[in-house]
Amino acid sequence: MADPSDPTSPVSAQVPAPVEVPAGMVGWCDPVRCAASACDPVICNGRALGSNDEVMLRSQAVIPGGVNSSIRAFASVGGRPYVVSRAAGAEIWDVEGTRYLDLVQSYGAVILGHAHPDVTAAISAAAADGTSYGAPTPREMRLAEQIRDSVVSCEQVRFMNSGTEATSTAVRLARGYTGRDVIVTFHGNFHGATDALLAAGGSGVATLGLPGTAGVPKGSVAATMVVPYNQVPTLSDEVAAVIVEPVAANMGLVAPAPGFLEGVRAECDRVGAVLIFDEVITGFRLGRGGAQAKYDVAPDLTCFGKVIGGGLPIGAVGGRRAIMETLTPLGPVFHAGTLAGNPIATAAGLAAMNLLNGDLYMELMARARHLSALMGEACTSEGFPARFPVVGTLLGIYIGGSEQFSDDAAASVTNFAQAKTTDEAAYARFFHAMLRNGVAMAPGAYEAIFVGLAHTDEILVQIAEATARAAREAMNQSADSLGITGTT
Ligand SMILES: Cc1ncc(COP(=O)(O)O)c(C=O)c1O
Repeated sequence: MADPSDPTSPVSAQVPAPVEVPAGMVGWCDPVRCAASACDPVICNGRALGSNDEVMLRSQAVIPGGVNSSIRAFASVGGRPYVVSRAAGAEIWDVEGTRYLDLVQSYGAVILGHAHPDVTAAISAAAADGTSYGAPTPREMRLAEQIRDSVVSCEQVRFMNSGTEATSTAVRLARGYTGRDVIVTFHGNFHGATDALLAAGGSGVATLGLPGTAGVPKGSVAATMVVPYNQVPTLSDEVAAVIVEPVAANMGLVAPAPGFLEGVRAECDRVGAVLIFDEVITGFRLGRGGAQAKYDVAPDLTCFGKVIGGGLPIGAVGGRRAIMETLTPLGPVFHAGTLAGNPIATAAGLAAMNLLNGDLYMELMARARHLSALMGEACTSEGFPARFPVVGTLLGIYIGGSEQFSDDAAASVTNFAQAKTTDEAAYARFFHAMLRNGVAMAPGAYEAIFVGLAHTDEILVQIAEATARAAREAMNQSADSLGITGTT
């Protein structure tokens, strides 16, 4: 078995040629191995494939970088990805049979644990009735009602297939509603891969956006302003919308400073701009009412994704009726989607929502605090300067021992410039050491840590024990050995 943290360990370069099958059919990778491992070639789980590297090599030939979301390639932590075969509860297994305790949980899309029986039963039952119709369904009505009844600012909801679609639709809607162009975003917030929101801003000062990635024309971000998080911007009356992660969970975990969300709300009201909360992570994760209930600030529009689909692809925009009815077919702002309001995704979402009650969120908050304390103590005892900030049910990681943050780094990180002082190389070492000790974290220093229903006390203790060993290893390992190739 190759060591995923060692880029020099031998890759099984001899990928067996797939066996020829009649055109148009999905074939066995290897009839003998596939049959022996009971791997069905159509529902391929890769159990018969020899190694993670074998799958990655074959994937790289047909998928750019071998991945369908850039972070999965391990570019910012080095080493080679594990390839997942299956998952259950808090555990995932790669194609080599290695088991990890999973703190990624599909980047927060999964809150009840992988393959929760209620969710899988709902998916199976729904699938038997057909997978997509291109027509209204009662399930999308019920999921919209659930969101309306839980999230006070959402009088109406429109579904789509991803968080990215939700934020791009919300921006178009706000622009169409106000008849203005300028969008204000906060440095270090992430709203998915949508052109207008992929602007890079200089920290510290408000800047007109410049493209944050190749392929985004200057024109797409010319009306995007990027300003520092946790400072209320002064808006002009050209601003259509301010979009904000009410708890920032893509630059480590950064809580809104007291008065920040209220201040942004008041400033939007002053100039008639639409306030958009991007609750793709926080929605139904911090509680049924999301961050807006926790901080008691109502946006005009809210973007959802992840949890509301029970782990299946989904996105949604909710908000005030007057704005929502600007969408087609009632208004002039176009929105459409072949699979929008998909009957399987809405079934999975409803099954998840059925279990997401106040008691469960109290339990998740306790677990997040407990894990933060356990991991923090484990790192401290090994002299590894990692801290694990908590906001409600969400957890982050910050690594650094600078004077500035020596008392409580987590509490004092308030914006992207400070978040960037985390020790990325130390994170990469820690990440790989955690993997070697059986715990999967996200392969990026700025991602959240997701605790869910499946992370029992016993599992939290196992994670803490792994953390202590990993912290010790990370202290002793050289950063040069990781082969880091980029950032994502
Ligand atoms: C806050 C936030 N908004 C939007 C998105 C984009 O969602 P998706 O990946 O479903 O397109 C993400 C993705 O992680 C996110 O964290």
